[in-house]
Amino acid sequence: MFKKILGTILCAAIACAALTGCAGSGKKKVGVSMPTQDLQRWNQDGAYMKEKFEAAGYEVDLQYAGNKPDTQLSQVENMINSGCKVLVIAAIESSSLSQALDKAAKKKIPVIAYDRLIMDNANVDYYATFDNYKVGQIQGNFVKEKLDLDNAAGPFNVEFTAGDPGDNNAKFFFNGAMDVLKPYIDAGKIVVVSGQTDFDSVATPEWASATAQARAENIIGSNYADKNIDAWVCSNDSTAQGVVTALDARYNSAGRDGQWPVITGQDCDIVSVKNMIAGKQTMSVFKDTRTLAARTVTMVNQILEGKEVETNNTYNNNVKDVASFLCDPVFADKDKIQEILIDSGYYTAAELGL
Ligand code: GAL
Repeated sequence: MFKKILGTILCAAIACAALTGCAGSGKKKVGVSMPTQDLQRWNQDGAYMKEKFEAAGYEVDLQYAGNKPDTQLSQVENMINSGCKVLVIAAIESSSLSQALDKAAKKKIPVIAYDRLIMDNANVDYYATFDNYKVGQIQGNFVKEKLDLDNAAGPFNVEFTAGDPGDNNAKFFFNGAMDVLKPYIDAGKIVVVSGQTDFDSVATPEWASATAQARAENIIGSNYADKNIDAWVCSNDSTAQGVVTALDARYNSAGRDGQWPVITGQDCDIVSVKNMIAGKQTMSVFKDTRTLAARTVTMVNQILEGKEVETNNTYNNNVKDVASFLCDPVFADKDKIQEILIDSGYYTAAELGL
């Protein structure tokens, strides 16, 4: 009997969800599809969007796909079937989403690519992100200045670690940094002792710290028995964390050196901010997820109110130029933590162990 009643309630709930999104209140529903909860930033992106969309009077269907493209596809399909009026998607990778995007287009549901551009599909309506190439330039220029590449004799030993090959942003970050540093590699001022300088060799599937760590351990073991590492250009914080762990275990503790390499990152994750305070990561790039979430809410409002959607750029996704809004990434190092992370209310001092 109990089972039967429960079954009836469940059926009613499913039917209601399928037909109306269960809004009941007449609220419009927004589907927000995030890649993973493994990385701190996506939890913040999701939480801020939920908060801001709800404050603006929307219902929110927020889903995380555990970095599994198939899961993301079925979550997005459910959002379409359950009556979402707009989809906001940070893609794990593009190709597996194409059938869902086609379906959304048939139902006239606009799609906003969030942070990561969805490639090779015409049914991406807008793109909200940070200037990805500029993130890499900030990292490359930081290394250039720290090593004083224009004046110091060198040569300097530098290694690279990039992001997930399925994430369209990853190449922008890598190229932004590489375009600054390549002239110094060509001139012999920078030596990449491992010889790994192309994106495919330095990429890190899923941006996983453990993968970045394993590769760094390999490189250190095979190439740096009798050499210093002067800098390690990491595209983001999760990969930088892996590199730091590898350096901790195999390099500094071996007592060979004492001179810690310059290490770049991106996202200002708490672990990495703590590493900056401890002197183990030298910089990060702050991409304020509150700014991106607020921009996305503005875009959705403009779309659903039939207003002109404010954009400031375009990104080509191999099929079309997608109207884009690029927010500004901000350089962060130890000295900036108070101002940009604590005073702005992004973190409390206690969260950073201060
Ligand atoms: C990128 C994103 C970065 C970083 C990375 C790892 O797409 O732009 O900020 O978080 O993914 O998830």
